[in-house]
Amino acid sequence: MVPGDGIGVEVIAEAVKALTTVADAAGKSLRMTPFDWGAERYLKTGVTLPPGTIKMLQEGFDAILLGAMGDPRVPDNRHAADILLGLRFKLDLYVNYRPVRLFHEKLCPLKGARREDVDFVVFRENTEGLYVMMGGNFKKDTPDEVATEIDLNTRKGVERIVRHAFAFAAARGRKKVLMADKSNVLIHAHDLWQRVFKAVAAENPGIEATHLYVDNLTLQMIREPGQFQVIVTSNMFGDIVTDLAAGLQGGLGMAASGNIHPGRISLFEPVHGSAPRFAGKNAANPMGAILTAGLMLEHLGWGEEADRIEAAVRWAVENDRTTPDIGGGLGTREVGEAITGRLHG
Ligand code: IPM
Ligand code: MG
Repeated sequence: MVPGDGIGVEVIAEAVKALTTVADAAGKSLRMTPFDWGAERYLKTGVTLPPGTIKMLQEGFDAILLGAMGDPRVPDNRHAADILLGLRFKLDLYVNYRPVRLFHEKLCPLKGARREDVDFVVFRENTEGLYVMMGGNFKKDTPDEVATEIDLNTRKGVERIVRHAFAFAAARGRKKVLMADKSNVLIHAHDLWQRVFKAVAAENPGIEATHLYVDNLTLQMIREPGQFQVIVTSNMFGDIVTDLAAGLQGGLGMAASGNIHPGRISLFEPVHGSAPRFAGKNAANPMGAILTAGLMLEHLGWGEEADRIEAAVRWAVENDRTTPDIGGGLGTREVGEAITGRLHG
């Protein structure tokens, strides 16, 4: 458990209660160990991820549940990049899994949208693309400055995320996989995506494979989100479209995510950040974190308990046991207690 910064601490506390409750009810045991990585520790000691962390995690743990990273006292959020992106890269968590579900019509900003209209999954490549921080400056701080950022795409990296999207569709009975790219302009990198996508699609004849340019995807996501089932895309495009997708399900407070390497230790975090303005006020929506804990259980093979968590959150939404961001009047703890109460029920 890595609560991290800001509201991360409060929402993880509620997620832990939900986890403990479903584990107890199932007579299963879940051992949780807290780690204090985050801004506070970084400011005191200069340490982001302590030496030896990766090996310690790989040898001793099955999953990481992380709240949020980000603190106004660390203006460039150096620690956040080191911890979150560091774990994604060093644990090779190549699947960023972001399910997009609308639990109730009242949460969707789209006119006339029904629950079944927003029910898709985004698989975002999570270990390369524009996130590798390769590039540099030339003539820095002069009027002639040049800055480059390299978009790194490997055949291995593209192929494994595309394969994962098709395998997920096949396993869940989903019939359509869509790739979002910009191959009309990124004529090298996204031509690779195109070729890999077509090759993997050919191996999956039962699944309809289509592509959209990412700019068109954003338009289609608000015009007719019901057309999507499984979307696969690059790291940066996935970052952008999943915030838009979170908007469709009620905002960042409702969005869950997994950073996964199938079969290995993986990291689960709500999509929202540390929201410093709301920190310590019992105001943050804990549902994203609780749903994220459910994704973690799914990864650990506890499918039934994961379903129970999702059903309890759905119940809380339907019965207005919610925080103000989605129209309710309760605090973080009260929403957490309502959900845990339902899980006891
Ligand atoms: C996300 C976040 C991160 C990202 C930031 C905090 C580095 O926006 O998980 O979507 O860009 O991946
Ligand atoms: Mg993001």
